[in-house]
Amino acid sequence: MRTRHEIPAARWPSREEVAASRLYSPIRIGPIEARTRTWVPAMVPWRSTEDGHVTRDVLDWYGRFAEGRPGVLVVEATGIRDVPSGPLLRIGHDRFLPGLRELTRVVRERSSGATRLFIQTIDFLRIRRRPEKARFVREFLALRPVHRERASALPGCAHLLDADEQAFREALLALPHAALLGLLDEREVEALERGARERVSDVHLPHVAALPRVLPGLFADAAERARAAGFDGVELHYAHAYTMASFLSRLNERPDGYGGSREGRLRLPLEVFQAVRARVGEGFAVGCRLLGDEVIAGGSRIADAAYYATELARAGMDFVSTSKGGKFEDAKQPRVGEAAYPYTGPSGHECMPTVFADGPGPIGRNLPLSHAIRDAIRAAGLETPVIGAGGLNSFEIAEGALEHGDCDIVAAARQSLADPDWWRKLELGRGAEIRRCLYTNYCEGLDQRHKQVTCQLWDRDFAQADAHGRDGALARSRDGKRRLVAPPWGP
Ligand SMILES: Cc1cc2nc3c(=O)[nH]c(=O)nc-3n(C[C@H](O)[C@H](O)[C@H](O)COP(=O)(O)O)c2cc1C
Ligand code: SF4
Repeated sequence: MRTRHEIPAARWPSREEVAASRLYSPIRIGPIEARTRTWVPAMVPWRSTEDGHVTRDVLDWYGRFAEGRPGVLVVEATGIRDVPSGPLLRIGHDRFLPGLRELTRVVRERSSGATRLFIQTIDFLRIRRRPEKARFVREFLALRPVHRERASALPGCAHLLDADEQAFREALLALPHAALLGLLDEREVEALERGARERVSDVHLPHVAALPRVLPGLFADAAERARAAGFDGVELHYAHAYTMASFLSRLNERPDGYGGSREGRLRLPLEVFQAVRARVGEGFAVGCRLLGDEVIAGGSRIADAAYYATELARAGMDFVSTSKGGKFEDAKQPRVGEAAYPYTGPSGHECMPTVFADGPGPIGRNLPLSHAIRDAIRAAGLETPVIGAGGLNSFEIAEGALEHGDCDIVAAARQSLADPDWWRKLELGRGAEIRRCLYTNYCEGLDQRHKQVTCQLWDRDFAQADAHGRDGALARSRDGKRRLVAPPWGP
């Protein structure tokens, strides 16, 4: 039962209380030290060029987060392949290096060197837009003998057994929808109703079969570029709906030793990590983001996640950042011409929980997962820091999470989007000035439509120039109606 939850009122601490807190104490993350245990996790803002380069808007976006001086800032999921992927950042070739170098320079400058900068590296498989039915039947459906057998068994359709191909396709198109669906197998129904989506277990596809051979090198190349660009570390994206998370999923039934059992499912994520480590050495932080629970039928649960996290930590990962859900399997049916979006179903809601939640509401909702993962890592005698996320929005919640052993570092995505200065305001004892996230996901709706992500709470007064003298008029979204960065604030 979903109900609307209130965001609990917060008690804001004094500067002295913050200075003595766990949250604002340093922490070692492999070879580096973060000044505080505060973290802005990856968030895709749709700001790069169509071919994946850093733009002025990308620099402004991360520069603005840097001004809040979090201990760690993670740059959005960035593609490791040299293939077109729309306005999502890419790191799959050396030509992306100058832009990424500029990004690390800007973050250092605007955080006065206080923020450590990581980049999340991602691989994803192909997903097609939902096709028009006529196009699917006339062009995309690969006809098989079983289609004819089933169609010809329908009343009055015996002639379809040996109708020519074009006539057969037209006859399929003329069938009632339910009858057409009855002729198709599960994947064909999915291709028609939602758009075809590749799985890691599609080993009949040569490029999918080759993933274990190809991905370690691609992730290692990307990490080497990240180091060359001046990042402090990489976060391997092993979470949500993407390739590496699909290897870790209980749904991964690959028959080639890279699926089918816990050990098999973990094999490629371990090999990717080992290749990355071998390339960048011990002096560069390497960690991952993984799911505490996939929240889909037949998917991985916390016991799987605790095992994966412990083994990755044992192999030498420098941090484990946790998330939940965000899968394609339960995503809503997209409209014709659009692709499924993995944050629209129940698992998507668990990934970015809103105030319209069942049970305990969004605040700290996913901490039991990071807690269990941390316990498992500690039980193995390892000190690897674990990052918790999900509705962490006040000093007391954050400090409590550290005190109770829920995590070692507190990540806040939407609260940092609503007010990038919130970490700094806390540190300065000015918590009362914090703009608090509403957790109603206006921002996520923009992401879903591939629009430039902004927050509904940002002031719409375009007359204000930003802190760097940039004319407010320049910093508007393409529709001209929204600020592209949070309004300026100065202590
Ligand atoms: C607009 C938007 C984009 C996101 N993009 C990413 C991403 O690129 N990689 C990722 O691991 N998580 C992504 N997330 C998920 C967040 O990192 C975070 O896990 C989630 O929002 C829950 O934390 P919160 O309650 O503090 O917002 C995104 C979230 C939002 C709102
Ligand atoms: S748009 Fe809404 S959910 Fe997103 S950061 Fe702003 S207040 Fe929070």
